[in-house]
Amino acid sequence: MKRLQRCHDIGDLRTVAQSRIPRAVFDFMDGAAEDEVSMQGNRSSFAQYDLLPEVLTDVSNVNMTTTVMGQTIPFPLILAPTGLSRLFHHQGEKAVATAAARAGLIYSLSSGSSVSIEEIGALTDGPKWFQIYVWKDRALVSEFISRARAANYQALCLTVDVQVYGNRQRDLYNGMTTPIRLSRKLAFDLASHPRWWFNLITKGQPQLANVKDKMGDNITDLNSQAAYINRQFDRSVTWDDASWMIREWGGPFAIKGILSPADALRAVEIGANGIVVSNHGGRQLDQAAAPVDVLPAIVDAVEGRADIVVDGGIRRGTDIIKALALGAKACMTGRPYLYGLAAGGEAGVSRALDIFSDEVERDMSLLGVTRTADIGPRHLRHKNDAPRYPSNY
Ligand SMILES: Cc1cc2nc3c(=O)[nH]c(=O)nc-3n(C[C@H](O)[C@H](O)[C@H](O)COP(=O)(O)O)c2cc1C
Repeated sequence: MKRLQRCHDIGDLRTVAQSRIPRAVFDFMDGAAEDEVSMQGNRSSFAQYDLLPEVLTDVSNVNMTTTVMGQTIPFPLILAPTGLSRLFHHQGEKAVATAAARAGLIYSLSSGSSVSIEEIGALTDGPKWFQIYVWKDRALVSEFISRARAANYQALCLTVDVQVYGNRQRDLYNGMTTPIRLSRKLAFDLASHPRWWFNLITKGQPQLANVKDKMGDNITDLNSQAAYINRQFDRSVTWDDASWMIREWGGPFAIKGILSPADALRAVEIGANGIVVSNHGGRQLDQAAAPVDVLPAIVDAVEGRADIVVDGGIRRGTDIIKALALGAKACMTGRPYLYGLAAGGEAGVSRALDIFSDEVERDMSLLGVTRTADIGPRHLRHKNDAPRYPSNY
C-alpha cells in the first residue's frame, strides 16, 4: 500500500509495475507494433494541443459525470478490454472488474480474458461491456453474444482492427509468442521474479477462460488455447458481419478501432451507437494515425448520431479534457490500469483510477469549467495555430 501511495501519476505506477513482473511480461503489456511509432504518436499528439483556461469562474462544484450509450458514469473514463490480465497479477480481471465497479466505471471485458464472461458477470453489479471479435466460427460468435446477454453485460464492443495479429517485436525477441519460446534468457527472466512465479503456479495458471472448454478436457495449456484463438481470426470479415452482429445483439453496440470519418459514418449507418476511435494502443498497424489527430474529423462526420470514445496514450487528466474538448464523450484506458494491476492488484487498479479522477477534477477546476458538457473547442488550441512572435518579442 505504501508503495502505491507513493505513486503520484501513471508513470510512477509504470515504474513499480516494471519492478514487480518479468521483463518479457512487462514488455508484452507495455510494448507495441514494429517501431512503436504509433504508440509514441499517441502521446506526442496530445502534447500538440494547449489548454486555454477561463479564470474567475465559480468552480466550487465540479461535476465530472458523462453519459455513454445511455450509461452515466462518474467521470469520463472506461476501462479498455485487455486480454490475459492474470499474467500481470494473479487477481487478473477480477481485480480490474472490482476496482472499476467500486469507482462506478464501465469495464470492458476482453474476449481473450483469463476469467470467464460468467465469473465477471456475477462478480459485480458495476456497468460492463463485453468486447468481441467476428470469429471464423460464427456459431462461437453467437454463443459469446448469448453468454454476454445472460451474464447481464450492458453493451457489446466489436474490435475491428485485428484482421491479423500485430507485429510486436519486443515479444518476438523475448519469446512471448504462441507457442511460448522458453529460451534460457526467458527462463532466467521469469525465475528472477519468484513472487510472481509462485503466484502463477499456486493460484492457477492463466487460461483463455472463455474458450478453455472448446478443446476437450485434456487440453488445458495456454499455448493450445492461444493457437485456437489465433485460428479464429478471420481476414474475410466485412461490414455485413458487423451489421449481422448488431442485429443479433439488439442493444447498445460500439465498434472499436475506427480511424477514418468514412468508416465512422458506415458504423453509424449499420446501427452502431458507439465509436471507439483507436489504433489499439499502437499494437496493431504501426504508423496508423493517432486517434486524437483524427478525432475532430470523425466528430464532424458523425454529427452526434453515435457517442464517440477515444483511446491510446491517455496518461493524464489533461489528456481526457483535451479529448472531450475535441468532441469525445469519454476516453478508454488500457495500459495505465494494467500498470496499477501489476504494481498492486486491485488496490493498484484503484490507485490508477483515483489518479485519473483526481487529475480530471483538479484540471477542470483550473480550466474554469464545472461540467464535462461545457468543455469545448474554446478550451483548446493546436500549437500550429498559435501566433508566432519574432524572436525579439
Ligand atoms: C496487454 C494489452 C492487451 C490488450 N488486449 C486487447 C483485447 O483483447 N481486445 C481489444 O479490443 N483491445 C485490446 N487491447 C487494446 C486496448 O483495448 C486499448 O485499445 C489500448 O490499450 C489503448 O491504449 P493505452 O494502452 O495507451 O491506453 C490491449 C492492450 C494491451 C496493452
